[in-house]
Amino acid sequence: MYIGQQLHFGLFIYPGGHHIAAWRHPDAASEQVTELDYFRRCALACERGKFDSLFVGDALAARESRGRVVGEVAINNLDPVSVCAAVASVTEHLGVVATLSTSFHEPFLIAAKFATLDHLSGGRAGWNVVTTSQDQAAANFGREPHMEKSLRYERAQEFVDVVRALWDAGERPIAHRGRFFQVEGSLGLPRPPQGRPVLVQAGGSPPGRAFAASIGEAIFTAPTTLPEAQAFRADIHALMAACGRRPETVKILPGFSPILGSTMAEAQRKEVELDELVHPRVGTWMMSEYLKFPLYDLSPDAPVPAADVRAANPDLSPAAGAFLDRCVREALTIAHGGRILARSRTHQSFVGTPETLADHMQTWLTQGGCDGFNLLPAWFPAELDLFVDEAVPILQRRGIYRHDYAGPTLRSHLGLAVPEPVLAAA
Ligand SMILES: Cc1cc2nc3c(=O)[nH]c(=O)nc-3n(C[C@H](O)[C@H](O)[C@H](O)COP(=O)(O)O)c2cc1C
Repeated sequence: MYIGQQLHFGLFIYPGGHHIAAWRHPDAASEQVTELDYFRRCALACERGKFDSLFVGDALAARESRGRVVGEVAINNLDPVSVCAAVASVTEHLGVVATLSTSFHEPFLIAAKFATLDHLSGGRAGWNVVTTSQDQAAANFGREPHMEKSLRYERAQEFVDVVRALWDAGERPIAHRGRFFQVEGSLGLPRPPQGRPVLVQAGGSPPGRAFAASIGEAIFTAPTTLPEAQAFRADIHALMAACGRRPETVKILPGFSPILGSTMAEAQRKEVELDELVHPRVGTWMMSEYLKFPLYDLSPDAPVPAADVRAANPDLSPAAGAFLDRCVREALTIAHGGRILARSRTHQSFVGTPETLADHMQTWLTQGGCDGFNLLPAWFPAELDLFVDEAVPILQRRGIYRHDYAGPTLRSHLGLAVPEPVLAAA
């Protein structure tokens, strides 16, 4: 743990909100989720709260699964780079992090897009490097079956090497000949203001964590308990050391989905209100997808059949395995487990007052569970405003959160140095 450590916040924007029923909530601006003004309102709230960044996920397949519960799930994200460019143009300080997949793009195009975003935003761009776990995405590119996971991460590693070489080389050509890519030429652009846009990663599997530790400067993760978060952070730091990287060159940001009230009773009432908006079929669908096991023919009141799920899926992801353990520990029914997933889409959810939220965050920070949080408000924009206006001032008074931005770039918000160009890479 570092002395004087401070929290970092990023906003994970999601159409309507992170609660699966957010779009049905009367206060969620669901009908505006494709409008610039919606993003502007959220981005300005982030700047008011001195957040590091606003982050937009990608979506390479529709949010439905083989025809199930279409329409009960939020619509897809708009194109992330376009949203980030639009947000950068209506803000002054906020970092903008867009997701693009190394499995379905080419390094030259991604290097050019993020160099452009970094120039236009004055050094506020970040790239969330994903390999796309959604099998259905492959169908939209004529690339079925989707590449096997470890191969996806091998491709991603070479992909990032090429992108970094292009950024570092600026207007000079590179000559890359590798297993997946051949690139001979230059972006023909000056080096981006941040040297390299910030690299964000969220791998959870063993190859995903190794990749995150080798390239990630901010890492998203989804632990739901402090011991899980501590173990993840310690693991990433150990993997980084093995790559010759120091732990302070990364910020680890667990997802955090708050529902706040001025009293505990008010916060709980809001949570129940949202729970009641979740259709039971949606909960069952979320459980089936997450556990990769069809639960559709079982009663929603039946216990989660953990042994059957494990037998059918020996290589369940660590996060899904931890959730399954929780189902057993707390003797959850399918309906109850589904409501938990529905609340936060598998991330940590928190129901309480701004004071208890500050206590909770302070504990996670000081006990080595995180460097900050990737904030997932249950619905937009009201829950985001509540966090910024009611919780942030408490964290500032406690000295664990900044009162203002220290510099103009995303790297300066994250306390990351501008990397020296590695021209040998060319
Ligand atoms: C906060 C967060 C946001 C994510 N956003 C995306 C995304 O936009 N696109 C995507 O393909 N994957 C996204 N992922 C998934 C991760 O990239 C990764 O695939 C997942 O955590 C599982 O890890 P694994 O690939 O190592 O199995 C996200 C994960 C987290 C925790």
